Amino acid sequence: MEKSILLASFLPLLLFLLPDCVLGDDPYRFFTWNVTYGDIWPMGVKQQGILINGQFPGPQIEAVTNDNLIINVFNSLPEPFLLSWNGVQQRRNSWQDGVYGTNCPIPPGGNFTYVMQVKDQIGSYFYFPSLAFHKAAGGFGGIRVLSRPLIPVPFPPPAADYTLLIGDWYKANHTDLRYMLDSGKDLPFPDGILINGRGQYGNTFTVEQGKTYRFRVSNVGLATSLNVRIQGHAMLLVEVEGSHTLQNTYSSFDLHLGQSCSFLVTADQPPMDYYIVVSSRFTSTVLSTTAVLHYSNSGAQPVGPPPGGPTIQIDWSLNQARSIRWNLTASGPRPNPQGSYHYGLVNTTRTIRLANSAPVINGKQRYAVNSVSFIPADTPLKVADFYNIPGVFSLGSMSDNPTYGAGYLQTSVMAANFRDYVEIIFENSEDTLQSWHIDGYSFWVVGMDGGQWTPASREGYNLRDAVARCTVQVYPKSWSAIYMPLDNVGMWNIRSENWARQYLGQQFYLRVYSPANSWRDENPIPRNALLCGRASGRRTRPL
Ligand SMILES: *[C@@H]1O[C@H](CO)[C@@H](O)[C@H](O)[C@H]1NC(C)=O
Ligand SMILES: *[C@@H]1O[C@H](CO)[C@@H](O)[C@H](O)[C@H]1NC(C)=O
Ligand SMILES: *[C@@H]1O[C@H](CO)[C@@H](O)[C@H](O)[C@H]1NC(C)=O
Ligand SMILES: *[C@@H]1O[C@H](CO)[C@@H](O)[C@H](O)[C@H]1NC(C)=O
Ligand SMILES: *[C@@H]1O[C@H](CO)[C@@H](O)[C@H](O)[C@H]1NC(C)=O
Repeated sequence: MEKSILLASFLPLLLFLLPDCVLGDDPYRFFTWNVTYGDIWPMGVKQQGILINGQFPGPQIEAVTNDNLIINVFNSLPEPFLLSWNGVQQRRNSWQDGVYGTNCPIPPGGNFTYVMQVKDQIGSYFYFPSLAFHKAAGGFGGIRVLSRPLIPVPFPPPAADYTLLIGDWYKANHTDLRYMLDSGKDLPFPDGILINGRGQYGNTFTVEQGKTYRFRVSNVGLATSLNVRIQGHAMLLVEVEGSHTLQNTYSSFDLHLGQSCSFLVTADQPPMDYYIVVSSRFTSTVLSTTAVLHYSNSGAQPVGPPPGGPTIQIDWSLNQARSIRWNLTASGPRPNPQGSYHYGLVNTTRTIRLANSAPVINGKQRYAVNSVSFIPADTPLKVADFYNIPGVFSLGSMSDNPTYGAGYLQTSVMAANFRDYVEIIFENSEDTLQSWHIDGYSFWVVGMDGGQWTPASREGYNLRDAVARCTVQVYPKSWSAIYMPLDNVGMWNIRSENWARQYLGQQFYLRVYSPANSWRDENPIPRNALLCGRASGRRTRPL
């Protein structure tokens, strides 16, 4: 882990940065990150990648539930930059979310210190650069949040804990890809798949005969669902985005864009090397990349062809998704702890139906939600909201139901009340798979099925042991439904994890509002908040 330094030497910085209300007992972890361009060769050709402290992928964040993470990010790129934290809930603290709707970009040569807490969370997540299609150049890394020492985990400690950041990759750089999107074209088909920033045979994971290992896998790619499998070895699913699951065994597992999970693998086969395969799903040409599971006492290379996996089968994937259940008896921090065992018995207070579409607007390919294709404002929405700057966005610019009308451009923000309990149905009438992420929350995936959602679809909801997670897929011509308690005040990004769709407008913000206007409900603006756009020159707060 990067620079985890003694509290004392940072005390002055800390007193300056911390919200006044929390200076609790929870440990602090300090990171200093320098973001630069540098040469990488992930597919044998030299590319300009985004490095963090010289690394691609970036350093891994290892934390324990409730740790405070103080991450000072120096932007040494010649352009504005932001990092966001996929799955970190930022409780009461959308100020640290690192998307353009909440934070001013870190200017070239500038820095910003993120101050966040992994409150009541465990699990596997990742961070990524959120602006300007930077994600296509790297700048991402793994986040793991371990349980606190005395909290039982529903499986024995693994012999080692490996992270696999898997994702599709383009040889074209992010500026060229962005240019294609800006000029109204779609992205081409990806050139390959990377595991931890490397292509074919670029990774070896060493295991000892008889021992059990944890693999944390995140799909950090731009366009493609992926399947992962290990030759001759069963994969025991134990965690999905912070929920301990029923421990089902899989021979291969689908991970859609932005999703993370952990599985255990026992080295119980004859001592040799085995293939780890990651391949594209729902694509007519199947891309795949291979890594090696190496037994320390191995006497042989992997044998035979790498194991094949599912390719275009949708039902297979849907059935697998339905088999992912929450282990109700496993301990661990939970979203909304009071209500979590009974999430299915609480009446929802609002239903929101979100339909994705791909309209052409002003002659250019765009992507939309309920006909609105998001365009960024000149000032981050959270910042404009705080200073009451009018004209940046309007609440109600995003409807609760599909309109099926022509697409249009708008800075879309949906208003919602703190403590509402919402049902959200993602409706996909397109013939491609969608993946949706909600910042600031973990939600229960109560149902998914083919066809058009109707109120009668509720009869099939899993109201007992659905998994709580932060990213959900929606199969082609299908719907997925979630329940979400709005227990986190702030301005939260709801977005497609398909990065061309996100970039071209398939996202919006949910403004969860509490009239109490109390620091118990939401942290005050950070003293070090960067101010830009129409908020330039304002003051944050006095010391
Ligand atoms: C970041 O790295 C660049 C390139 O190595 C270096 O020139 C610069 O001084 C570094 N900045 C910080 C804040 O460490
Ligand atoms: C991307 O590649 C183009 C040439 O295709 C080049 O002009 C441009 O400078 C590159 N951008 C980056 C950030 O490497
Ligand atoms: C930038 O880094 C300096 C030095 O570490 C720190 O004092 C300052 O608070 C940081 N700036 C922001 C906006 O976080
Ligand atoms: C659920 O968690 C409990 C408690 O840790 C564990 O004993 C049990 O094996 C788990 N059940 C399943 C089906 O994974
Ligand atoms: C939910 O609504 C139903 C029907 O309106 C009502 O009978 C029930 O008591 C409500 N349940 C709770 C927990 O409020």
